[in-house]
This record gives sequence, structure tokens and C-alpha cells, in this order.
Amino acid sequence: ATFSLGAGAQQAWPDRPISLVVPFAAGGPTDVVARMLAIPMGKALGQPVTVENAVGAGGTIAATKVARAQPNGYTVFLHHMGMSTAPALYKKLQFDPLKDFEYIGQVVDVPMTLLARKDFPASNFQELQAHLKREGNKVSLANAGLGAVSHLCGLLFQSAMGVELTTVPFGGTGPAMNALLGSQVDLLCDQTTQTVPLIKDGRVKVFGVTVPKRLEALPNVPTLDEQGLKGFEVKVWHGLYAPKGTPQPVIEKINAALRTAVQDPMVTQRLKDLSSDVPPMDKITPNGLKTHLEAEIAKWGPVIRKAGVYAD
Ligand code: MLT
Repeated sequence: ATFSLGAGAQQAWPDRPISLVVPFAAGGPTDVVARMLAIPMGKALGQPVTVENAVGAGGTIAATKVARAQPNGYTVFLHHMGMSTAPALYKKLQFDPLKDFEYIGQVVDVPMTLLARKDFPASNFQELQAHLKREGNKVSLANAGLGAVSHLCGLLFQSAMGVELTTVPFGGTGPAMNALLGSQVDLLCDQTTQTVPLIKDGRVKVFGVTVPKRLEALPNVPTLDEQGLKGFEVKVWHGLYAPKGTPQPVIEKINAALRTAVQDPMVTQRLKDLSSDVPPMDKITPNGLKTHLEAEIAKWGPVIRKAGVYAD
């Protein structure tokens, strides 16, 4: 007799919890998005979705781990635009974003904010500019490692301001934010999924938002563009992936659960409160994510190579 594992196994999926891998520390912005989606996705799938933080090397440790995981539908991966910058940033990358994953869909688009510790000497953008020119690399700028969006935003910011600051890397902007709140570092560029409540509570200083239009949740915070950094724009996109070879019927079910989750009224309200947007539904598809990732790799590669920033 022959045994057919394939069809039967697929029909039974999922019969145990699904692991949602997050490439940065717990409590940070990617983790916030993952945990927001995990509950409604788990409900839609009939099994819990549990968040697993795999921290290090700007998200590339987690991506390598997922690329090598069993393609059985029990491992999914939430990553942001770091997936598109890693090939240019890391000389010895151990995964290929375009070959080692199945695409499930885009997830959410998140603006960033430029913050300082509450007791930082400068109180507005002009003072910040003067302070950075004067103090230069005595000023520290935290980030979540090479390829983290806090790192990319920091690079753009330093280049736009014509300054070189001292970079302090963490395993995520969750811990970087703790260092900012504890006044151990001076500046941090971070996503609104983490920063809106802290800005509203006055626990950090904010110098601007990284998108060309002011945010509904922070109407009094000017854009960096309107304060003189013309054209400054960073908006963080996210994608949901699975290891290459994960069966297509499973990918379709995870995609359906993702689409349900981003339309859950609690999720949409929370995202709105955090000034984050759900992409159009045609982007929340395997092909929508694939097309976007390809375009982003093509866009970032030359910029990063020109800047000469990379890890050996
Ligand atoms: C995080 O969750 O820690 C962030 O997404 C890190 C970053 O890329 O800045």
C-alpha cells in the first residue's frame, strides 16, 4: 500500500498553533503589529497564532531561520522593508528574499517620527539643527541594527542634515526606546506603532514626522519636510511570508486570515490611532507583496551601494 501524506496533512492544517516569527525584540513596533494581528488571525484559522521574537542583525537572523524552517504552514514571518534592503547591506546574506519564501501579502504601512530623550537640550527643529552642527558625534542616535528602518531613517536624516552622529544599535527599537526613556541615548527615529502613545504622554521630545503630510494622530507635530528637509520621506511597509514550498492551499488560508484580520474593527481602529494604514486589498495578496518587494530591492540596492554602508 502507498501512503499519501500530502493531501490529508493539508486538509488537517492547522491542527496546532502557528508560529509568527518577528525579527525584532518584543515590545517594539514590528512586535506591536504582529500581536495586533495574531489574535484575529488565530480566530480566523481556528488555531492560536503565537508570536516568536528572533532578534539580531537587523532582522536577518530571523529571515535566515524562517528560510530554513519546515514549509509546513506552522511558520510564518512578519518583516518590514528590511527584507528589501538586506541584500545590499549584508555581503554574506544566508537567504535570498526572492527565492526562499512564499509571499502571503502586504500588511500595513507605518510612518516614522524623529524623537529625542525628554531632557535633550534642543526643543525645536532649529535648535536641534544648531545643536547637531555644534556637537556632531557627541550626540548618539539609537537604532535596531543594520537594515532596521530606524537605521535607514537615521542614515537619511544624517545625510539630509549634513552631520555624523554616533550610532548605538539595539536588538529592536523596543529596547532602543527604553534607552531613550532612560536618557542613555539622545535620538531615535522610530515607527508610530510604538511612538504615538509616548509622544502624546510627553515622555519623549518629537522633532518631526517622516512623511510629507502631518499625521491625524499627531496634528501638532510638523513634518521634517516642512521644516526644511525637503522631500524627506520614510514610510515603512510590511510583508507576511512563509518558507518556500509551503503548500499553496495553506498560503491561501493564511492570506484569507490576514485579510480578515486587517479588516477587524478593533485592528482598524488601533491602526488609525497609531497613524498607520492598511494597504489597498490588491496589495494584500501574494502577487501584491512579490511585486512590491522586487521593486523595493531594485530601488534600495543602488542607493545603499552608493552610500557604501554594509556589513561583511
Ligand atoms: C522593531 O520592531 O524593533 C523595529 O521594526 C526595528 C526597526 O526596524 O527600526
